[in-house]
Amino acid sequence: MQVFIASSNLGKIREIKAILKKSAFEFVSILDKEILEELKIVVPEDFDVVEDGETFRENAFLKAKAYANLTGLAAIADDSGLEVEALGGFPSVNSNRWFEGSPTERNLALLDLLKDKANRRARFCGVVCFFDPKTGVEKFFEGEIRGEIAKELRGDKAEGFGYDPIFIPEGYKQTFAELGATFKNNISHRRQALFKLSQYVLQDKRLERSE
Ligand code: IMP
Repeated sequence: MQVFIASSNLGKIREIKAILKKSAFEFVSILDKEILEELKIVVPEDFDVVEDGETFRENAFLKAKAYANLTGLAAIADDSGLEVEALGGFPSVNSNRWFEGSPTERNLALLDLLKDKANRRARFCGVVCFFDPKTGVEKFFEGEIRGEIAKELRGDKAEGFGYDPIFIPEGYKQTFAELGATFKNNISHRRQALFKLSQYVLQDKRLERSE
């Protein structure tokens, strides 16, 4: 079954494809120019979904629906973010929007907000929405991983994205960026939500008919 990855975030697209590489889905994304041409699907360069929901679930649905309507394919969308305990859960659904600047500048800004805080506990959480316009299937899967915020940026910029250089998963000493993509993809919030989706797909008979 062909499924469109409803995202313009290349880091997310790469992770979703890697995590679900053994699933029954054949993924299509903005990176797959040849398949898009074959399917006669045009995703405008400036295609943007206004994420004005108040929850991960609402925003994941907005994205899945927008891309499904645009492409005619089933779509999966991930809406996720970082929640920092000492900041009352901030930045949460606004993880991508609370600071104007590069990911590195944003990470430095977050470290600055935490500079006097002893409590560095945080978690990544998010929701994956699967939406299939042909069958009307609309499903949500949650994932979470607890950890803490490092004192400085650490790790390879090529590994992961966003807050990976400052997030240390519980039970480890290195950041996600230091641990690397393969490792991260086995334990992350995204992995957990997508694993639930892959289990669900195996048992929903309606999806078998939606070729
Ligand atoms: P959105 O889901 O497109 O609203 O963006 C979520 C934002 O949260 C990303 O742009 C990142 O800044 C952050 N984020 C979500 N998941 C991860 C992750 O796995 N690693 C690092 N940052 C993440």
